[in-house]
Amino acid sequence: MESTNTLFVVFGATGDLMKKKLFPSFYNLYTKNSNISVLGVGRQELDDVTFKEMNNELLCSFDDLGFKDKVFYQNVQYSEQESYVHLKEKIDMLKKEQKDLQVIFYLAMPPHLFDPIMQNLKFHGLDSIEIYNTKIVFEKPFGVDLESAKELNRTILKSFKETQVYRIDHYLGKEAIQNFLTLRFANSFFEPLWNNNYIDNIQITGFETIGVEGRGGYYDTSGALKDMLQNHLLQMLSLIAMEPPATLGAKHIRDEKVKVFEAIHHLEKDMKGHIAYGQYGAGNIDGKEVLSYRDEEGIPEDSITETYVALRVFIDNWRWKGVPFYLRTGKRMQKKGTTVVVEFKKLPQLLYNSNDEVDTNKLIIHIQPDASISMEFNVKTPGTNTNVDPVIAEFDHKEFFGLDTPEAYEVLFNEIVKGDQSLFARLDGVEEAWRIVDSIIKCKDLRENIEVYPSGSLGPKGAEKLLEEDGRKWHNL
Ligand code: BG6
Repeated sequence: MESTNTLFVVFGATGDLMKKKLFPSFYNLYTKNSNISVLGVGRQELDDVTFKEMNNELLCSFDDLGFKDKVFYQNVQYSEQESYVHLKEKIDMLKKEQKDLQVIFYLAMPPHLFDPIMQNLKFHGLDSIEIYNTKIVFEKPFGVDLESAKELNRTILKSFKETQVYRIDHYLGKEAIQNFLTLRFANSFFEPLWNNNYIDNIQITGFETIGVEGRGGYYDTSGALKDMLQNHLLQMLSLIAMEPPATLGAKHIRDEKVKVFEAIHHLEKDMKGHIAYGQYGAGNIDGKEVLSYRDEEGIPEDSITETYVALRVFIDNWRWKGVPFYLRTGKRMQKKGTTVVVEFKKLPQLLYNSNDEVDTNKLIIHIQPDASISMEFNVKTPGTNTNVDPVIAEFDHKEFFGLDTPEAYEVLFNEIVKGDQSLFARLDGVEEAWRIVDSIIKCKDLRENIEVYPSGSLGPKGAEKLLEEDGRKWHNL
């Protein structure tokens, strides 16, 4: 474990994300690397003690390994330059106590505050690699469309170098998603088949059972397309589809991921027919009645924001020409599950099950709730016949490696501490992902008659039709 003294300075430290995800992950990282400390920054007038009191329940739930003593607070009015004098003093004080301290600014803030914060950090010299070894981390949303993402990237580069910048997509920290590259490039039997000669289609699914969970204000301006597909699903797609990188270094991995996005053009030409939207209605999840999206707090009663989206994507390169990638994500679905299903082509000639089709071979990667990889193939059924049945060979992550898998955020924090950017989106990668999504957003009329699907179902009929048109169906797991 890396032993550099590290101070995470978290803007937005009194927010929800800090409590739910960041604090527990800082603590877990601390249990493996006690050189970590955390300085919370917020507008509220708190001091170290009151900030800790505010988070007392959470901090007390951690084993007493001295983490509490590593937590500090500084209030800052984000747009006021003078306010940063105290922040600098606090950082300098902590720097005196810790040799070669690296400072990592973590912006868990609405994007409109990124610019004033960065300008003020720069004004006070807190961007300095030489003095503070500064890095800066951005939480999503990273822009709301291509133009705003470009503008944001331009703004960042006025104050920081790209080598200091970490754009978080927490899916890239998930163990099972990191395993995509290992599965593909540490084995020899998948890669020869990993192309349009053998693969019929690839399905990437991100289903949740939760609704908007009190984030109505944000979600209604975003929708499933921007909230999940632009980032998490497209990141998964790029890892599944990319060419082998020259090395596992950040440059090479990110070069290959960007090339995947650059080969997606067809949506710009004609979007229609490649997408299905849905919005959850009232229904039942795990035996509990739940409200429709339009009845959730903060959602206008005539909202046409999608809580479900399914998309057909083609990657126009030598490897993937003609292979559809089907992406779908939705809230309030029957079952939570993030999966990738790689479906191989049908047999060229039927020798078995003459009245019936023989099932296609499938490689199924389950990311969550449980991580596993299974292969579905056909075997002979016992007896004197020529029938075949599909069977499954499975690798179960928990069973094999045990429970102790680090949470996504902890993995990412550790990479930032080490200074490895491979698991973070690069400027051009983010812009390319927005370019793809922009072509979809531009086609506004497709949302107008948005289909309502009951909560607890498998989503809108339109998504089924998308695959039926291609003579295929979704693999619901
Ligand atoms: C976030 C989205 O990025 O990812 C949320 O904003 C979504 O709407 C969440 O619920 C899903 O993350 P996970 O790790 O629970 O799959």
